Amino acid sequence: MAENRVSLITGSSRGIGRAIAIELGAAGHDVVVNYVRNQTEADRVVKEIQSGGGRAVATGANVADQNDRRRLIDSTIERFGRIDVLVNNAGITSPGRQDLLEATEESWDQVFDTNLKGPFFLAQLAARHMRDQTAADTENAADSGVIVNVSSISGYAVSTNRTDYCIAKAGMQMMTWQLADRLAEYGILVYEVCPGVISSDMTAPVKEKYDRLIADGMAPIRRWGAPEDVARAVGMLTSGSLGFSTGERINVDGGFHIRRL
Ligand SMILES: NC(=O)c1ccc[n+]([C@@H]2O[C@H](COP(=O)([O-])OP(=O)(O)OC[C@H]3O[C@@H](n4cnc5c(N)ncnc54)[C@H](OP(=O)(O)O)[C@@H]3O)[C@@H](O)[C@H]2O)c1
Repeated sequence: MAENRVSLITGSSRGIGRAIAIELGAAGHDVVVNYVRNQTEADRVVKEIQSGGGRAVATGANVADQNDRRRLIDSTIERFGRIDVLVNNAGITSPGRQDLLEATEESWDQVFDTNLKGPFFLAQLAARHMRDQTAADTENAADSGVIVNVSSISGYAVSTNRTDYCIAKAGMQMMTWQLADRLAEYGILVYEVCPGVISSDMTAPVKEKYDRLIADGMAPIRRWGAPEDVARAVGMLTSGSLGFSTGERINVDGGFHIRRL
């Protein structure tokens, strides 16, 4: 991979994405901090990376919008000249968290556009650049890009008041495998990071419910996950040290995925 890796992290103004941006900035990556509404928060993340000596820029773009996705990739290339890492982190929960029998097509479309269609087509755009970089840069051909998709334990654990969210997150595993298979020939590695219950604005409205479930032993490790727990996993996957692994899922869930009797 190029010495100055360029990383685009979607939805990095807050929460998990913010922690990933700071982690990669500290690891020496040039960072594109993406947001959809909160420019002030995104600017704060940029300042934090810059204060540690890193280079970063904030770019507003809605990952659910085709034109915005193109602009996001184009402006990354314009600003830093290349793209080495894409972290598909931006996501929304199911609006209104309606019961499966009341769930609407509007909610489905919004969740799928943001959480699955957007990430796939953004990965497609980024992968084309990574492929072309590889062709132009034979020295680094063995390790020319990393795509990380942030899924969720909701991809396999049912919540009938967030059916669209769960199904979209389930799709991320196959999306990861598809990309990993197709892009291996260009040296592009693709991973899924699967967080459990992580403290962020997304989970704040259901804090009491999860406080209870965690205390009752929902997962072997009885604490909330922190955004930094997820960020460290992304840091490892993008470090360039896992060159013979692709398509992997890394669980960052306190052991929630372990089936127990
Ligand atoms: N928190 C958890 O327990 C948990 C567990 C498993 C998986 N996840 C997944 O982890 C990811 C991050 O979750 P989080 O908890 O950090 O969420 P969060 O605190 O709600 O933050 C969401 C981030 O995504 C951005 N965003 C939302 N919609 C976007 C769009 N259409 N285009 C571009 N950016 C957009 C937001 O930007 P603005 O600031 O501009 O609004 C914000 O930076 C999501 O994919 C989520 O599904 C979270």
